[in-house]
Amino acid sequence: MMEQGNDCERILFTAEDIAAQVKKAAAWLDERFEGTVPLAVSVLKGSVIFFCDLVRAMKTPVQMDFMTLSSYGSGSSSSGMPKIVMDLSAPVEGRDVLLVEDIVDSGHTLVKLKELLGGRGAKSFTVVSLLDKPSRREVDVKADYSCFTVGNEFIVGYGLDYAQRYRNLPYIGVLKREIYEK
Ligand code: PRP
Repeated sequence: MMEQGNDCERILFTAEDIAAQVKKAAAWLDERFEGTVPLAVSVLKGSVIFFCDLVRAMKTPVQMDFMTLSSYGSGSSSSGMPKIVMDLSAPVEGRDVLLVEDIVDSGHTLVKLKELLGGRGAKSFTVVSLLDKPSRREVDVKADYSCFTVGNEFIVGYGLDYAQRYRNLPYIGVLKREIYEK
């Protein structure tokens, strides 16, 4: 069997580390959204694994919707120009929106999403991101809640890909340089 985990030089966050942080994030969100039914939005594809675990750890009833924005293509760095590939199906007007991201890197995607959903009349907007990579930020934006802060390393797993691979690793690892430089 092909062992995709062998392509990581080390594990940064184990499945257990992630589960503990997901639980904490869910508790924070339950407090914030008490008495509301937020529209939970997964920004595909990177956030889908985190999203599924997060909404199941929350006690707050949520509605779920999905949106695809793409900026990275198949390479390893952001082009800085996110595009809508697939829009939400639900109207956003008057809703408390919970936006779930896997990573805030340059910040361009988040700025674009805030503009877009804010323009549609969302009542409130809360961003939770699994990872924050502040060293790469190009615009001044951040999530309201981040589970982990990471350095400028090439990470994959738990939703994050390299050339669409490694998303289904149950942990987050640092990809071996020889994989993305070959
Ligand atoms: C990634 C990630 C965020 C965005 C963050 O998506 O899921 O949405 O980039 O980068 P930024 O802060 O530099 O804008 P990507 O376009 O790689 O698509 P994917 O989620 O399908 O992997």
